[in-house]
Amino acid sequence: MRKALVVGNWKMNGVRSDATDLATAIKTGFEDNGADIAVCVPSVYFSEIDSLLAGTSILLGAQNVAEHDSGAYTGEISAKMLNDFDCHFAIVGHSERRSYYNDSNESVARRYSQSLSQGITPILCVGETLEERESNETFSVIDQQLDAVIDLAGIESFAKAVIAYEPVWAIGTGKVATDDQAQEVHAYIRNKLAQLDAGIAENMQILYGGSVKPNNATALFAMPDIDGGLIGGASLDGDAFLSIYQSTK
Ligand code: 13P
Repeated sequence: MRKALVVGNWKMNGVRSDATDLATAIKTGFEDNGADIAVCVPSVYFSEIDSLLAGTSILLGAQNVAEHDSGAYTGEISAKMLNDFDCHFAIVGHSERRSYYNDSNESVARRYSQSLSQGITPILCVGETLEERESNETFSVIDQQLDAVIDLAGIESFAKAVIAYEPVWAIGTGKVATDDQAQEVHAYIRNKLAQLDAGIAENMQILYGGSVKPNNATALFAMPDIDGGLIGGASLDGDAFLSIYQSTK
């Protein structure tokens, strides 16, 4: 039985006091229901949030990780640096990274591998744009995004990874994929992995992301191949985020 997981992606929001207030609110209101919970915070606040969450079961994550081990890569943060903290997850291949910073499928695969090399679980984001969906390219886009990672890191690496399906058209738009639309892609991803390794596919946590809110989370999480969510906007409100967490099955 797969464990559910709810992850907040705070993106580039707020300042230091907002970050500590939010982490404190989540910590204070958290009631463990057996599912996992994590927050992917801006890296400048890593140290502070790491200390604040110490001793709780709320896990810490990064929003990105460098594709190289170390060296002259101004502005990048390596997996080893993240590993100085109790960093459990690193998001790789978020669509905002892919579209605004040109993170290619190959670069995402290298970031995924760097994360694993330090024992940090990558949350590999995949998903199509509206244009791609409308021209029936959803599955081929997902194939390309997954294949780059499978080619570099191997199917066995997925035993220590999480996948997040985030249709680009549903991110920050308030336009949530219907439960059936999301389930269809989640099942596609699981079946694709199953062709390579049935055990890994069965245990794979596949999260849905894109306008998840307290009022739609229960129905999404009830779908057989949706194992939780990657939450943007609603994760900036402690009560809303915890309510989404409590919607896990
Ligand atoms: P929203 O929940 O704001 O749509 O963002 C989803 C997302 O991008 C999470 O990574």
